[in-house]
Amino acid sequence: MTLGYEELLIVGFGNVGRSLAKLIAFKQEYIREKYGIDLRIIGLVDSKGAVVKPGGLTASEILKLVETPRSSLRLQKPYGKTYSSIVDVYDEVEPTIHVELTPPNYDDGEPGLSHIIHAIKNHVDVVLANKAPLALYYDKIMSMAIASNVRVKYKATVMAGTPLLNLVLGLKGYEVEYVKGILNGTVNYILTEMHENLVTLEEALQKAQALGIAEPNPAIDLEGIDAAAKIVIIANTLGLNIKLQNVVRQSIYNISLQDIRSAIRKNRVLKQVAQVDFNKREAYVKLEEIPLENPLAKVNGTYNAVEIGTSINKIVVVGKGAGRIETAYTILDDIISIALEKRGYR
Ligand SMILES: NC(=O)c1ccc[n+]([C@@H]2O[C@H](COP(=O)([O-])OP(=O)(O)OC[C@H]3O[C@@H](n4cnc5c(N)ncnc54)[C@H](OP(=O)(O)O)[C@@H]3O)[C@@H](O)[C@H]2O)c1
Repeated sequence: MTLGYEELLIVGFGNVGRSLAKLIAFKQEYIREKYGIDLRIIGLVDSKGAVVKPGGLTASEILKLVETPRSSLRLQKPYGKTYSSIVDVYDEVEPTIHVELTPPNYDDGEPGLSHIIHAIKNHVDVVLANKAPLALYYDKIMSMAIASNVRVKYKATVMAGTPLLNLVLGLKGYEVEYVKGILNGTVNYILTEMHENLVTLEEALQKAQALGIAEPNPAIDLEGIDAAAKIVIIANTLGLNIKLQNVVRQSIYNISLQDIRSAIRKNRVLKQVAQVDFNKREAYVKLEEIPLENPLAKVNGTYNAVEIGTSINKIVVVGKGAGRIETAYTILDDIISIALEKRGYR
């Protein structure tokens, strides 16, 4: 079966971009045989430049590029280029799918927001792992996509390698009352360390940073912005238009060992919980003492978990919430789904 080809522009060539490029290089043949789709990478972009090859890079070219230093795409011969904006890249290649893997910026969504708007205006389908543009401008992006008849998929923005959003989209006949969960692996790791080893927040954070679980500047995680962005994306996916700035957030910076001990004495565990309540039409990220028998209490370390409460049942999903390889697999699934949907397959 041959259905055709998709030409991919991967914008952001860091941890996830490189894992995705490598995955595609290794799986090109498998995807061609199984789905009849030829996936070609025609452009890779980092913060300083790009590699652009109309027609597509070969697997061995891709595998060489993933080994190059960061920010060096422009120096890679013979396809390296500098560019001043994404428009320059689009002047050279015409992708069919734009994959946005730049870092999240919760001030204004840039550079991801402008990149995906440019893609949509050019009638190019979009796959996102960068959650900031969606968390800030879900409505705007989706309205533009509908008007331009473009698909926007973003499964990797929530729980990375665990396809929660697919499950959520499969609840069309249900009345979902709430979604609540542990959506930030860094914070959950820190709280688990504090609970299990009775260490201070500073000690747990230092350990997380040494292991690469926390960023040098962990504020986005510790202040609940990352968890809030994810709950906003879940809410909007289920049709509730909530904006990031309206999510009430509690930071974990003030947690002491006394708080942890107090929860332990009550047979509870302190967790950062993000929740959207569809009846009250509100969302928040706060610290909750969870009884040990609750499934969320057993979710430790960098794992994520979500409980979906409907009028007839509760569904709990547990899985890894981060990881470059898991994220790359989820993005690849979105890419293949777009390719198949375009051709009338589900
Ligand atoms: N890592 C995970 O497990 C995970 C899971 C789910 C979602 N995500 C999301 O996926 C995205 C990528 O994550 P990552 O871990 O790969 O981040 P990363 O390692 O920091 O890579 C980001 C990439 O974006 C590039 N970039 C920065 N500004 C740019 C600009 N203006 N134009 C073009 N490229 C630009 C960087 O260029 P340089 O190389 O030149 O610096 C780098 O290649 C983020 O939004 C992240 O939140 C990550």
